[in-house]
Amino acid sequence: MRLNGKIAIVTGAGSGMGEAIAKTYAREGARVAVLDVNAQAANKVAGAIGKNAVALACDVTQADDIARAFAAAGKQLGDADILVNNAGTAHVNKPVMEVDEKEFDRVFAVNVKGLFLCTQAAIPPMRKKGGGVIINIGSTAALRPRPGLSAYNATKGAVHNLTKTLAVELAPEKIRVCAIAPVATDTPLLPTFLGPAPGQREKFIATVPLGRLATAQDIADAALFLASEEAKFLTGNIMEVDGGRCV
Ligand SMILES: NC(=O)c1ccc[n+]([C@@H]2O[C@H](COP(=O)([O-])OP(=O)(O)OC[C@H]3O[C@@H](n4cnc5c(N)ncnc54)[C@H](O)[C@@H]3O)[C@@H](O)[C@H]2O)c1
Repeated sequence: MRLNGKIAIVTGAGSGMGEAIAKTYAREGARVAVLDVNAQAANKVAGAIGKNAVALACDVTQADDIARAFAAAGKQLGDADILVNNAGTAHVNKPVMEVDEKEFDRVFAVNVKGLFLCTQAAIPPMRKKGGGVIINIGSTAALRPRPGLSAYNATKGAVHNLTKTLAVELAPEKIRVCAIAPVATDTPLLPTFLGPAPGQREKFIATVPLGRLATAQDIADAALFLASEEAKFLTGNIMEVDGGRCV
C-alpha cells in the first residue's frame, strides 16, 4: 500500500478522473475526502469506497464552501497530506468570438480561482505537519493548445504556471507541487472538448501515438505516483499523460 496512513482531499471527485483518483488513493491505504459541487455524486463515490472516505459538498469557486469542507475533512479524517486540485469545467469547443463573458468567467472561476483558494486552504495544515503534496490537474491544452478551446486552454496555462510558482515558493516548507497534463480522456467532460462535429473522437485518436484516448485510471495512476514516496524529489513537474501526443 503506497499511501498507507495518508489523508487526501480530492476536489471534483464525484466523477471522471477525480473519482478514479479518490478510489485509487483509498485502495492504496489513504483516507479520502471526496469533494464535489454535486453532493449526490460525492456521496456515491464515498459510499463505494466505504469507511475510508467522507463525502463533502463543496463548490470550489466559493471561499466559504471551501473553508467549511476543508474544516470538516480535517475534523473527520485529520489534516490532509495530499490535495488534488481536480475540479474543472470547460466551454463547448467553438470559435473564440462565440465564447461569451459569462463562459469565460465560469471556466476561470472553477479552474483557476477554485484551485488557488483550495491550495490556500490546504497549506496551513500541511505546514503544521511539516510537508505535503499538491497535485493540480492541468492539461495538454496548455502545452499544445488547439483551436476552439480558447478560454479553457488559457485556464490550464494558468494552472501550469501556478504549479511551478507554488513549487518554488513552498519547497522550503517541504510542500511539493506538481501537475498532470492529461490528453483527451474518456470522462463525461470529453464531448464538451471534442465539440459537436461528427467523427471528432476518431480524428483525435489518430493523433495520439499510442493510439487511444486516456482513461481516468491512467490519470489516477500518475496521481498515485506523484503523491507517493517514490516521487519525493519531484516538484514543479508537469507530467504529460498523453500517449505521446505532445512529442
Ligand atoms: N476529460 C478530458 O479530456 C480532460 C483532459 C485534460 C484535463 N482535464 C481536466 O481534468 C479534470 C477533471 O475532469 P473530468 O474530465 O474528470 O470531468 P468530469 O466532468 O467527469 O468531472 C469533473 C468533476 O468536477 C466537478 N466540479 C465542476 N465544477 C465544480 C466546482 N465549482 N466545485 C467543485 N466541483 C466541481 C463536477 O461536478 C465533476 O464531478 C478537470 O480539471 C479537467 O479540466 C480533462
